[in-house]
Amino acid sequence: MRRSSVAAAMFLAAASLAAAPKLPDRLTAQEARGKQIYLHGESPGGKPITALMGDGGVEVPATIVPCASCHGSDARGRDEAGVRPSNLRWDVLTRPYKAPGERNHPPYTPAAIKRAVTMGLDPAGHKLQTAMPRYRMSLTQIDDLIAYLQKLPQDSDPGLTDDAVRIGVVIPEGEHAADAKKLVEAYIRLLNRAGGIFGRTIEVRFAASPLQTFIDTEHPFAIAASSLIGNEEEYESVIDRNQVPSMATIATLEPKGHYSFHVLAGIREQAVALAQYAARRGAQHPSIVFEDKPPWRDIAAEVKIQPSASPDALIVLGPESLQRATLRTAAMSDHPPLVLIPGSIAISLDDLPATLDHRAAIAVPLLPSDASPAAIAELHALGDDSLSPSITGPFISLQLLVEAMRRAGRDLGREKLIDTLEGFYNVESGLTPKITFGPNRHTGTGGGHVLVWSGKKKTLVEDDDGR
Ligand code: HEC
Repeated sequence: MRRSSVAAAMFLAAASLAAAPKLPDRLTAQEARGKQIYLHGESPGGKPITALMGDGGVEVPATIVPCASCHGSDARGRDEAGVRPSNLRWDVLTRPYKAPGERNHPPYTPAAIKRAVTMGLDPAGHKLQTAMPRYRMSLTQIDDLIAYLQKLPQDSDPGLTDDAVRIGVVIPEGEHAADAKKLVEAYIRLLNRAGGIFGRTIEVRFAASPLQTFIDTEHPFAIAASSLIGNEEEYESVIDRNQVPSMATIATLEPKGHYSFHVLAGIREQAVALAQYAARRGAQHPSIVFEDKPPWRDIAAEVKIQPSASPDALIVLGPESLQRATLRTAAMSDHPPLVLIPGSIAISLDDLPATLDHRAAIAVPLLPSDASPAAIAELHALGDDSLSPSITGPFISLQLLVEAMRRAGRDLGREKLIDTLEGFYNVESGLTPKITFGPNRHTGTGGGHVLVWSGKKKTLVEDDDGR
């Protein structure tokens, strides 16, 4: 069994420079100023904007109540405790509003939007609810804002047009990068030949580092990545800041933000799987050995095991030195405890002392045996005969994004994609265990398989007894 830390090393580092990308349509200077107002309630160089709140017209800086805080950065409007900020997408605003029993009005024009924003009146002259503030801003500022509202439907869902959707693919440098890329290209070619997704062609752009520059120039609708190991925190912060939905196959830490999804279990889920394994092996006093700093401290706290003075199972959360020291101490004991290490951080366990026969184990989120025959056949058809995650990783992530786009339907958007992913329940992915996400669960699989060290075979073997 190859060590997964070796696999991790193969994933390391960000993708290399691809061909210089061409610039897609960007916001004009006016639209960009309007965007600032819409999202943040201010415009660089412009005078401060004031919002008048409620019936009394209490004045507050618009920075506290920017449009996006109620209508959403995608302008679709969100339900807030009883009031419903309208959908401000241009196609919606500019069609006549007719609903039985409600205030009907003709379509919004730019002049009518000005009236709504500054005086709180709709195009029919009805007073809007006071939950919608009135704003005091300059004529230039309101023009900027309206210019942006017209552009917003494309801007909030970059990389998405009526006939194409652009997906960024992040493949770390390494010996398998070329094969990983080839697999992605073969898959997309086949998909597009079959008509794409709801009439949209999938355009793949391979990411060059830095990721921020890639996002600024290519405007991907979503990103499929293989492993984040090595630059995980930076990657996640860029994803969050840019609000790009991202699916990564392998990562060690929990995905933090709203936009980030991981396919396979990270360290925490692996540790939980190991705790369950310890219980199956009859351990009565499991304990955690961890390095008392982030991220180990936080992961240890989440695994929720009470420390024990004479432990019979030790879950190790920490660097190689800690793993080695724990294994060494265990090996010298008359009754060695189980030493359990999450696979994504584990050192090589190939030559341990015989006393640790069936006493050292790791949890791995993925084994070749997880792949279904149909999925392996599909890989072959696409010209790939390896199950190594460093090759299949980006393909797995991309397949899940494609599945989510299929389920989301023609009316696609970033938020819709995320909602759809959060509805994934036991979805067959073919190459991995079944995938389940939820609003509070952005990691697709559980802790996976436990491999135990066999003194006889001098390597890790799947532990069926422990199941
Ligand atoms: C504090 C929450 C809040 C903020 C901030 C806010 N709105 Fe509203 N907005 C609402 C609500 C609620 C409505 C629905 C009012 C109604 O139905 O009478 C609304 C309605 C509107 C309408 C009328 C749409 C229609 O269907 O008739 C427009 C246009 C509008 N907002 C634009 C803006 C703009 C532009 C900004 C920023 C300058 C903004 N709003 C900021 C809550 C807000």
